[in-house]
Amino acid sequence: MSETPGASQCYSGTTRFLHWLVAVAVIATFPIGTIMLLEGLARPTQDALFILHKNGGVVIFLLVLLRLAWRLRQPAPPFPDTMPRWQAGVAVAAHWALYGLLLVMTVSGYIRVRAGGFPVEMLDALGVPSMVPRSESLAETAKGIHATARLFLGALILVHVAAALHHLWRGDGIFARIWPPLGRGRS
Ligand code: HEM
Ligand code: HEM
Repeated sequence: MSETPGASQCYSGTTRFLHWLVAVAVIATFPIGTIMLLEGLARPTQDALFILHKNGGVVIFLLVLLRLAWRLRQPAPPFPDTMPRWQAGVAVAAHWALYGLLLVMTVSGYIRVRAGGFPVEMLDALGVPSMVPRSESLAETAKGIHATARLFLGALILVHVAAALHHLWRGDGIFARIWPPLGRGRS
């Protein structure tokens, strides 16, 4: 099954695949969310970016739920003994904070849209009810949470990537726990 030495200490194939799928989607969602709010953007372009952002965000939400369900079923591989305990503790806390912030971002975005009375095209086409009451004040609150959480999520992603690149540079095997997205190791 695991052809690479130490491969049993890496994340399962499903976890690795979902990690990189969500990573690419989230990294793309940031600039789309920022650009779509720019003044002077042509209306059709703005509409297309909004549709992409909202519906892509809903897909991210579903993928994060899937990741969490999978993660609860299958715990993370143990850290190598050589890793200081405090570093392992910080990594675990940062990972759960990433999951939490992804949920805050997607749910606040959804509430902002629904409370404001706007469509989420994909869900509307599937006949999924809004589940959020129309309310301008709720929409404003959710908008504020969305705008603030994006700063925390953006900062944490930068720290996370810096830590990952540091491990890659040190060659201590931590990066290989989550790479490659496809092939090799447990499923
Ligand atoms: C939006 C972008 C990203 C998000 C939200 C994210 C989220 C996460 C989460 C939640 C975990 C923990 C998995 C678990 O234990 O359940 C993780 C692990 C990991 N991520 Fe990311 N990630 C992102 C981008 C990246 C990028 C770009 C890199 C590399 C340059 C990277 C490298 C890693 C590595 C090496 C691990 C495994 C750490 C370990 O073995 O403990 N991530 N990521
Ligand atoms: C991880 C997923 C998401 C990320 C990273 C993200 C990121 C962003 C960013 C960076 C902005 C610009 C905020 C600003 O400049 O103030 C934004 C705005 C916005 N996002 Fe998201 N978003 C996500 C999910 C969603 C979802 C799921 C929805 C709705 C279904 C959504 C709806 C919106 C809306 C409507 C705005 C404009 C807010 C306003 O009225 O100013 N987002 N998002």
